[in-house]
Amino acid sequence: MTSAQQPPRSGAAIRLAFLDFYTARGHRLVPSASLVPDDPTVLLTIAGMLPFKPVFLGQKQRPANRATSVQKCIRTNDIENVGRTARHHTFFEMLGNFSFGDYFKEQAICWAWELSTEVFGLDPQRLVASVFREDEEATAIWTGTVGLDPHRVVPMGEAENFWSAGPTGPCGPCSELYYDLQPEKGDEDINLEDDERFIEFYNLVFMESNRNADGILTPLANKNIDTGMGLERMARILQGKPDNYETDLIYPLMAAVAQRSPLENYFAASPDQQTSLKIIADHSRAVTHLVADGVTSSNLGRGYVLRRLIRRAVRHGHLIGIREPFLEPLVDVVVQLMASAYPRLRQREDVVKRELQQEELRFLDTLGRGEKRLGEILMTRPEQISGDQAFELYDTHGFPLELTVEIACEHGLGVDREGFAAAMETQRQQARAAAVNVDPACGGVTESLAAKLGATPFTGYQQLDDESEVVALVVNGAAVQQAHHGNATVQVGLSRTCFYGESGGQVGDRGVLLSTTTSGQAMKMIVEDVQKVDGFVLHKGRLESGVLSLGDVVTARVDRSCRRRAQVHHTATHLLHEALKRVVDPGISQAGSLVDFDRLRFDFNCPRPVTASEMERMESLINGWILDARSLDVSRMSRAEAKTRGAVAMFGEKYGDVVRVVDVPGVSMELCGGTHVNSTAEIGLVRLVAESGVASGVRRIEAVAGPAVLTYIKPRDQACRELGERFKAQPTEIVARVEALQTELKHASKALAASREALALAKAVALIPQARSHGEFQLLVQRLDGVEPAALQTAGQALVDQLGPGAAVVLAGESSPGKVSLVAGFGPQVVARGLKAGALIGALAKGCGGGGGGRPNLAQAGGRQPEKIDAVLTAGRARLAQALGQSPPADPPPQRHTSAKSAGKTPSAG
Ligand code: SER
Repeated sequence: MTSAQQPPRSGAAIRLAFLDFYTARGHRLVPSASLVPDDPTVLLTIAGMLPFKPVFLGQKQRPANRATSVQKCIRTNDIENVGRTARHHTFFEMLGNFSFGDYFKEQAICWAWELSTEVFGLDPQRLVASVFREDEEATAIWTGTVGLDPHRVVPMGEAENFWSAGPTGPCGPCSELYYDLQPEKGDEDINLEDDERFIEFYNLVFMESNRNADGILTPLANKNIDTGMGLERMARILQGKPDNYETDLIYPLMAAVAQRSPLENYFAASPDQQTSLKIIADHSRAVTHLVADGVTSSNLGRGYVLRRLIRRAVRHGHLIGIREPFLEPLVDVVVQLMASAYPRLRQREDVVKRELQQEELRFLDTLGRGEKRLGEILMTRPEQISGDQAFELYDTHGFPLELTVEIACEHGLGVDREGFAAAMETQRQQARAAAVNVDPACGGVTESLAAKLGATPFTGYQQLDDESEVVALVVNGAAVQQAHHGNATVQVGLSRTCFYGESGGQVGDRGVLLSTTTSGQAMKMIVEDVQKVDGFVLHKGRLESGVLSLGDVVTARVDRSCRRRAQVHHTATHLLHEALKRVVDPGISQAGSLVDFDRLRFDFNCPRPVTASEMERMESLINGWILDARSLDVSRMSRAEAKTRGAVAMFGEKYGDVVRVVDVPGVSMELCGGTHVNSTAEIGLVRLVAESGVASGVRRIEAVAGPAVLTYIKPRDQACRELGERFKAQPTEIVARVEALQTELKHASKALAASREALALAKAVALIPQARSHGEFQLLVQRLDGVEPAALQTAGQALVDQLGPGAAVVLAGESSPGKVSLVAGFGPQVVARGLKAGALIGALAKGCGGGGGGRPNLAQAGGRQPEKIDAVLTAGRARLAQALGQSPPADPPPQRHTSAKSAGKTPSAG
């Protein structure tokens, strides 16, 4: 290895080397997707393959045949191990190469090996591969094609070597590469679970199946490749560090934290303190990226993951003696380390700092008091932390249950979780409807309010204006007495409300809250979203003017147009559900829905796509029901009666003993809490706009109803008009015009390809005088520029045909700027000598920074270093001559033949 080819060392160089390796092999570079996935079935992006999941499932068009990426990922399933082992993280970067129905097992394995040994320079004697025990093909490739000692190919079970992103979805057997830190232990007793000895660094998944909810595997339409290499692990190996944390990717963060603490530096710290430093460093990367990707702290979903990570980091700061806020300055270090790979970090730096600072301050306050109280409890040497004690910590001090569990665990104690749940329930039952002021430091503010105040009575079925009292106010996640114009976001709880809170798929209402305070100042709050937490309704928005205080009486006014648009889509959803049953399958059941102001989405269980003609029939049926102007009948009745009448219950909803039944007479009857039109005629029109698959056995239909149909149609109408003007055609004639153009273009392309080939052949024929006899063989090794790869191959074959059975032809040239194309063609006598065109061309292509191969008699390759073409041709000539058993013929130096004109010139030497 020359000094120019030293293996990469820094994290940045490793990222680059990986991407370069695969882009040189035809992979499209795809930037990292957000940590917030476009996939409702997962909370966060957990692997490099996640953004490609719909592509693997055939639900989305592939971006290219091959792709490569560095994907930021977060996994929290092993959070307890973070900082305690050498390799666990919440945040990590995954380097990946992907094939979507293109290359498969053998190529993926060979490239993984080449990258690991030749680019990363890992000693082949230190590598071990695991394979799925039933995957004999992978074993054969490792031991045969790659030549790995069979002792170092280890069969593993399904738990270890069958990979899937979750319980359902694309999956397949995998093969992992491990690096051996203690090769002196020999090959006899290889245990890949020995973390001290082996680091798994590259996982190759042969993704060929889809698993449905019943665990049944069906083959995917294509065989795909999904791989993942842990950047931090490869950095640890190449930098020779004892763990991932001491690499240049993370160590500067630990150093920065140590400096802010009473510890002198990381290496002077005790093992526990080092663990805290590792946790803080890990979590600071995670939270910076999460906020940069738009997550804000909350008590739900990914907002809660963020909150939990921030709190863990802060608590470990506390443990190592940091008493001041430290997360915000740490963002500077994260940005410095990572912004060149993730430029978004710099754009969002201010937002990230603000969010972390606020959340940290809030939590520090909580922490001080909670830890003090927990310390007192621990002093009494209890056998465990009781449910009441854990609840007191949560309720009075805002101390999250997980934290109590974690601290108790550090003292070897358990926590009575059932007792905690019982105490929570008791308090819920004692909920008062009066205004409360919750400790501002309390973490679960909205949950706490919901528990104390109970469900908000809803008056919005009958009226869209109501008078109501403010019973709760939350600003920046903390309960307050007063909110002001200027507070970024305010959440308001009312004694009763006419605003519909998001539920049953229907979005929350929009509108305003208005009041005049005693000082005479007008308050106006724009309500931008309405959410329900355990039945308690929170009106979210901003104060356009004035002040809002607990106890104020306000006028709540729902935006009528928004409400009307939502109910148009809600009733349309019921009609669609029924149409599906009548047209597609009576057994269809709902799997989820979204009822928005300007669209609806309906997910349902169905093993096959709905056809275009079924879509048309459903659309007609629905619009027929709309034209009938059927008056809806909404009533309450016992669940038993609703069942007797045949009302359909919605997926995932909880119902009480008394249920609300929405009846579209003669069409459908469903249990539903949503708001609806009075008559189907109010819907106006429904247009079904899309049908797709969202998961195995789950389909989705999207539709627009009412005024949204116009919004949907307008741009399409406009495009149609413009095309009509351009083609001077009526809308109904456009398709035929485009088809005619496509046919014309196809013919023209064919003619162009034929001329290119003819030109290449002419150039090739002009090279025949350059052939040199070599015993019974005819050698022709020449440069031919400006010829496309396909035409070069035709030219190579034509030359072999002309020169006869002893022909050995190698052509190489710059096919287009910066691109090298090579071809080798051998006549049968040459092949009989044991020479393989594929092997020769592969070796030559390497010399021009590329690769390729093919059959023994004809093979093709590409490269990216045109300046090396002449040297490669000289080498090729020498290799051929040697292989054919004689010294190289006294050929002229390779000539450039860049055009038909120059190809005709007599060579200057030879
Ligand atoms: N998806 C596989 C993994 O996460 C390979 O990238 O390990």
